[in-house]
Formats: sequence, C-alpha cells, structure tokens
Amino acid sequence: MKPDYGDLVAAAAEVWRRAYAPYSQFSVGAAVLAGGRTFTGCNVENASHGLTICAERAAVCAAIAAGERAVEAVAIVTDTAQPTAPCGACRQVLREFGTAVVVISATVRGARSVHQLSDLLPASFGPEDLGYRG
Ligand code: THU
Repeated sequence: MKPDYGDLVAAAAEVWRRAYAPYSQFSVGAAVLAGGRTFTGCNVENASHGLTICAERAAVCAAIAAGERAVEAVAIVTDTAQPTAPCGACRQVLREFGTAVVVISATVRGARSVHQLSDLLPASFGPEDLGYRG
C-alpha cells in the first residue's frame, strides 16, 4: 500500500502557523521526510523582499543539517482554495537530494494533490551533471 503521508502533512500544517509572512500574508508550512525523520520549515520573509526564504527550502536545510541526505517526500501546506505547488527554486533544491521525491501539496482545509518531483521538474539538471554521485 502506498503511504498516505498524513503525519507529514500534519507536521507541515503545524509549522504553517509559525510562518513569518507579514508582507505577502501568504503563509507556507513544509515538512520533509528524510531517513525516516521529519524536518519542518516555514517561509521567512524579509523587509528586503528578495531575501525571503521559502518553507520547502527551510525544511530541506533542516534535514541536511541533521545529517540526512536522501529526501523521500515533502508536504506543503497553505491556506488556499487549491493546493500550492512548490516554486521553481524549491523544486531545484529538492532535486539535489532525490528525483523520486513525493510532493504532497495540501490546504489547511484538507484538499490535496500529489506529484513526483520528476514530473514537476522534468529533464532536470542535478549533481550527476557535475559528475557527483554521492
Ligand atoms: N513561498 C514558499 O514558501 N514556497 C513556495 O514554494 C512558494 C512561495 C513563499 C515565499 C513568500 O514568502 C510567499 O510564499 C509568497 O510568495
């Protein structure tokens, strides 16, 4: 049976509450599953807008800082009518740590869509292109 990643979505929903998004008012929570452990992140905006950090990238950084390398799945939670897909920059950062990453986009009210990263970022550039194979 395929995992439903319900706990991962719950972790993303929890950290969504702590997003710092005073400029866009668009809060995002993310949870990464790596090595069987869950790591969370939220978007952190900045008065110098270009310095904003997306939730997905914050969660990936937490996983890597904890010593994980292989990302199995990421859940993204927003308060929107439709689930929100990860931005292009976050897709590329996720891709660094796996092409088979399951991406679960969910809303705070329970709508969901599930994709594989390789479908969201086809024909991608990655570590192998630089000869790096871990
Ligand atoms: N944002 C994310 O956290 N993740 C995404 O994949 C898309 C955008 C944040 C950045 C900014 O704080 C707000 O959403 C609006 O763009």
